[in-house]
Amino acid sequence: MELKNIVPWGRSFNEYKSMFSLTNTDLNKKILGCADGPASFNAELTERGGSVVSVDPVYQFDSLQIRSRIDDVYPHIMSEVKKNTDDYIWKDIPNIEALGKTRMNSMEAFLDDYEAGKKDRRYIKASLPILPFEDQALDLALCSHYLFLYSEHIDEALHIASMLELCRVAQEVRVYPLVSLDGSISKYLDVVISSLKNKGMDVSLQDVAYQFQNSASQMLVVKCV
Ligand SMILES: C[S@@+](CC[C@H](N)C(=O)[O-])C[C@H]1O[C@@H](n2cnc3c(N)ncnc32)[C@H](O)[C@@H]1O
Repeated sequence: MELKNIVPWGRSFNEYKSMFSLTNTDLNKKILGCADGPASFNAELTERGGSVVSVDPVYQFDSLQIRSRIDDVYPHIMSEVKKNTDDYIWKDIPNIEALGKTRMNSMEAFLDDYEAGKKDRRYIKASLPILPFEDQALDLALCSHYLFLYSEHIDEALHIASMLELCRVAQEVRVYPLVSLDGSISKYLDVVISSLKNKGMDVSLQDVAYQFQNSASQMLVVKCV
């Protein structure tokens, strides 16, 4: 992974709470945030006393490198969203200015926490489909805006291997969203569900309160054990 190829974009604790319907009981579990990038979920949950570890290949870079890349790509991402405003529901995030502020606040909170969090092993450089944890080391794994969303870049085999790996390390896995970048349900959702069910796992689709990308109203929940 080269710095010039990464596009850092991070969501907040409240967004994770809403995307994954996290209850107070959930938030007291040992949580893995997979593909967390510059989201502030880890920083904010740690501040609240929670137990969370994030993995992402981007954690091979230091805070200065990630910050400079955020500054480089931010105007481009914002102009892309502006061109495609009809792809989003402007309710909880009312407008483009609020979106920019929300994302930058999250990424600033991440950057403020990042170097200390790396020393505490809360930010670990790793990539699906291989995670550096013992079997069932975590209670709950969350994967936001990576699997299914990038269905044009991640193939079927990698989707299935990644989901099985998440289920190897956590008792329960939740993934959001289930749509790809064009807003249609991922072409891999059915085959992933069948593969997990064939392994005897309990798989369901659950409505979530979070609303931003059109049609992204459900998460995948897998009870792995
Ligand atoms: C769109 S960002 C989502 C960030 C965060 N989860 C959020 O919702 O705000 C996608 C993230 O997936 C990470 N990623 C890319 N390839 C990965 C892999 N093989 N395993 C885990 N994460 C990966 C990227 O580095 C990036 O940080």
